[in-house]
Amino acid sequence: MSLKEKLDPNRIPRHIAIIMDGNGRWAKQRGKLRVFGHENGVKAVRATIEAASKLGVQYLTLYAFSTENWQRPKYEVDALMHLLIRSLHRELANLHENNIRLHAIGDLDSLPKEAAKGMQDAIRKTAQNTGLNLVLALSYSARWELAQAIKNIAAAISKGELEPGNIDEHTVAAHLTTRQIPDPDLLIRTSGEMRISNFLLWQIAYTELFFTPTLWPDFNEETLCEAIYEYQHRERRFGMTSEQIGSENHTEL
Ligand code: IPE
Ligand code: IPE
Ligand code: MG
Repeated sequence: MSLKEKLDPNRIPRHIAIIMDGNGRWAKQRGKLRVFGHENGVKAVRATIEAASKLGVQYLTLYAFSTENWQRPKYEVDALMHLLIRSLHRELANLHENNIRLHAIGDLDSLPKEAAKGMQDAIRKTAQNTGLNLVLALSYSARWELAQAIKNIAAAISKGELEPGNIDEHTVAAHLTTRQIPDPDLLIRTSGEMRISNFLLWQIAYTELFFTPTLWPDFNEETLCEAIYEYQHRERRFGMTSEQIGSENHTEL
């Protein structure tokens, strides 16, 4: 029995977020330049989108480029931006045919014009699709996002639209770039690194974390199923006790 067949179809995570890491090391192991790893990373992106879509995942968020990644050598940043433009161009028809709806989180204005336009066009073209919601995190970092949210909340207060005393968790969540997106149920990071690297800090408060040594270009349906299988064997308690979670009447305890 394959791992995929062992999955409980009724407990597929609604939202999976992935820190796609390890392209550079994958290329280095083959004596190639880092950019070769990024090019092969696109194949893993395609395979993951297809697998997630077939499994019935509703939201898939891919961390593609962080705020900090702008500090990489210019040729690598340029190569990544070209790859984004080229991939959008090549994949858009396919995404659309598969009923996939594209979203973006991050500072799109900081991207090269052609990349930002490519994203905006793809978001517009797929806006009516009702299948998998594919969220690309581009020029994204959680601290950037939180600072933006605070700025917007402060502006609402100074315009008299908001009372400071009324600010609660919902107010904060409503000012994040993910305001229309449920929190991730499962976060996967490839390449063996055990860190979050400034990704979705607010949203992962109760997300299950899965780390795999697999380098991103080698990630595929099998690795995705491995992560989901482990997720399905975890107990999400959200601060409560095991007994409460197991009990149908836990609100009465
Ligand atoms: C992830 O792979 C892709 C991006 C961050 C854009 P890396 O490029 O970080 O690869 P490693 O971690 O150096 O192997
Ligand atoms: C995280 O990977 C960012 C993305 C996958 C886009 P990095 O390779 O940039 O993270 P660090 O530097 O190892 O923490
Ligand atoms: Mg890395």
